[in-house]
Amino acid sequence: MGGSFNLFPVQASTVASRVDNLYFFMLAVTVFFSVLVAALLVVLAVRYQRRRADEVGANIHGSTALEIIWTAIPLLITLVMFVWGTSVYFALAKPPAEAMEVYVVGKRWMWKAHHLTGHREINQLHIPVGTPVKLLISSEDVIHSYYIPAFRTKMDAVPGKTTTLWFEATQAGEYRLFCAEYCGTQHSGMIGKIVALAPRDYQQWLAGGAPAGTLTSTGAQQFASLGCVTCHQAEGTGRGPSLVGVFGKPQQMANGARVLADEAYVRESILNPQAKMVQGYAPLMPTYQGQISEEGLVSLIAYIKSLGAGAPGGGQGGSTAPAAAPATDTRGTN
Ligand code: CUA
Repeated sequence: MGGSFNLFPVQASTVASRVDNLYFFMLAVTVFFSVLVAALLVVLAVRYQRRRADEVGANIHGSTALEIIWTAIPLLITLVMFVWGTSVYFALAKPPAEAMEVYVVGKRWMWKAHHLTGHREINQLHIPVGTPVKLLISSEDVIHSYYIPAFRTKMDAVPGKTTTLWFEATQAGEYRLFCAEYCGTQHSGMIGKIVALAPRDYQQWLAGGAPAGTLTSTGAQQFASLGCVTCHQAEGTGRGPSLVGVFGKPQQMANGARVLADEAYVRESILNPQAKMVQGYAPLMPTYQGQISEEGLVSLIAYIKSLGAGAPGGGQGGSTAPAAAPATDTRGTN
């Protein structure tokens, strides 16, 4: 890219400088002590070398003061690294609640992005500058890793799981996207770009594409065509629990446990329904493993998530098929 050689990628996200500062601090500490030890090794070897054949070294039994000093100093330095590192880690791990969500599916050898608006992209991701973006990442086959050096962030795409990564771009531009987990012969070709746009350009980009429907409405269609709706009726009168108001809330299981209905729970319930049984319902549901693509699953999750928001219509209109009746009271029983 360009003709100039950069030792480091640009800092294009809100956490980039924090990650770099921590990195440079650790690098400085490491270099300082490496140089100190190497220099002392040479100096002391010269200074205390044996000069006469009959010279005998002094017998030293140790020094408590020295022991305390060389224990306390490294302890303090590593504690600084620990506290600093933890705070950066939490900043990277916890997406802001208001973050814009995009589903990303990794597959040999491409990255597919599904926007809630219904826009889809391959090996590209258009995002607005100045808005926190949360990626919900999954994989269709093997482990991949979504890596954006300019944002100083990276997250594995693991089959059967939904992982999250978030960032907030600080400047418009195009940034490289890599797969950072060896995933087969074309691993090195599993690359793409993040296109960070000023908010107005982003709106223009959104207006440019004409998706068939939102991710939620695609999910609603899946919900109908796969027959989910026959058992999971909105009023809770079906053989399965109603899914209205479920997402994001703890659910009571038959075995007494309470489980938070998050992406991982919904995914597991579709692919391995018997793993966690909701209290009061028989284990009738068949597995949908192999009957639904990763992308279908992503849209179903987005749809069920929209039902969980309480008030219907979270899916920006278009959700037609199994009309989510106005959120009934979320009773703890289903
Ligand atoms: Cu995907 Cu390496």
